[in-house]
Amino acid sequence: MTDTSTADIQQLIAGAGDTPRALRRAVDHVGPARAAELAVEEIRTRIDVPVNPHEIRVGLRIEHDGYDTATDRTLTLTAGRPVRVDEGMQESCEVRIVYRLKDLVRELWGPDLARTAGTRRIELATAHDTDFPPRELQPSIASATSTVIDALSPRTPDLGTLALRHGSDKWGQVHWFTPHYERHFAPLRDTPVRILEIGVGGYADEESGGGSLKMWRRYFRRGTVFGLDYFDKSALNGPRLQILQGDQNDPAGLDALAREHGPFDIIIDDGSHINEHVRTSFTALFPHLRPGGFYVIEDLWTSYLPGYGGDDRDLNAPHTMMGLLKSLIDDLHHEERESAPDRALSQTEAFLTGMHVYHNIAFLEKGVNAEGGIPRWMPRAPHW
Ligand SMILES: C[S@@+](CC[C@H](N)C(=O)[O-])C[C@H]1O[C@@H](n2cnc3c(N)ncnc32)[C@H](O)[C@@H]1O
Repeated sequence: MTDTSTADIQQLIAGAGDTPRALRRAVDHVGPARAAELAVEEIRTRIDVPVNPHEIRVGLRIEHDGYDTATDRTLTLTAGRPVRVDEGMQESCEVRIVYRLKDLVRELWGPDLARTAGTRRIELATAHDTDFPPRELQPSIASATSTVIDALSPRTPDLGTLALRHGSDKWGQVHWFTPHYERHFAPLRDTPVRILEIGVGGYADEESGGGSLKMWRRYFRRGTVFGLDYFDKSALNGPRLQILQGDQNDPAGLDALAREHGPFDIIIDDGSHINEHVRTSFTALFPHLRPGGFYVIEDLWTSYLPGYGGDDRDLNAPHTMMGLLKSLIDDLHHEERESAPDRALSQTEAFLTGMHVYHNIAFLEKGVNAEGGIPRWMPRAPHW
């Protein structure tokens, strides 16, 4: 995925959330054929593995409204196999789906509310015949059409389903994180978020990993996802998904990447889980989080493991993740501490506004932490 593709998709995402005129300008700027090609690539990333037992060909026509041209593709769907996308619309397609380009761009990348009803036409290839399609094919036609329509639609499966689909361990077996994510991220789902996740997955194996990054890309239809890993995972680059290489324990490297690609709306640490690394990353990256954003730390259990630099004897040990979280509770309440009122505030004193700690995962909210302390006229000791 090149920088130009990322820039083109960003233009389309912005246009899809704007007026018809702005959307038209974005499509003109990117070029209709290119915009249609990016839309097809987006659909390819979203489409689920088919379940229709009979092979079905679905034709997709994207009319370049106002240009008198069109992009045609044939999607071949068979149970259990990745969808094949071929150029052109084959005669043998059992179903045809026709979209106008700007409607499709809005449907794929616009906010849910901007969706216009009835922007697509679905035609059975046999619609003008008097004979029914062969009876044994009918369930497969319905299922294959639904698989394609689900990929086009702004509706997204829930995060647990997406974790399983894309092979992230954030749900099932070991971790049960996705309902917590859903609770905090649902209000951001429709916005063009920038997410950075530390830990792509798959370790030294270049081709494997990326499960959670693909899950985020599908969940945040308008978002851009960055994955940082110690190993080279650039083979996983793709539409709206950019791989970065670096060490989460290198503050200067983190600062440089955040200056180039941030600020971020969401930062997730699912990297080494070594206590020192988690603390280094948090200190370096929290300043690069946008107000209203979340910093998430996964796998808090390693806070108690000496092998990860944790400690399960001294529960107030300052060098562990739990030590960090406990000190952040004090930062959140700095306005209530009267011993040094005029000192310079730390980043977390000034900007940490909420903490939600669940079993093994913490969500830290950023904003402006300046509500004001309890007024001086409130008694400083019980007075009854
Ligand atoms: C648990 S996996 C990530 C799983 C992925 N987030 C998911 O849910 O699908 C942890 C990843 O962190 C990476 N990692 C380990 N130490 C790191 C470091 N110091 N800096 C950056 N990445 C690191 C590993 O290479 C591995 O790919």
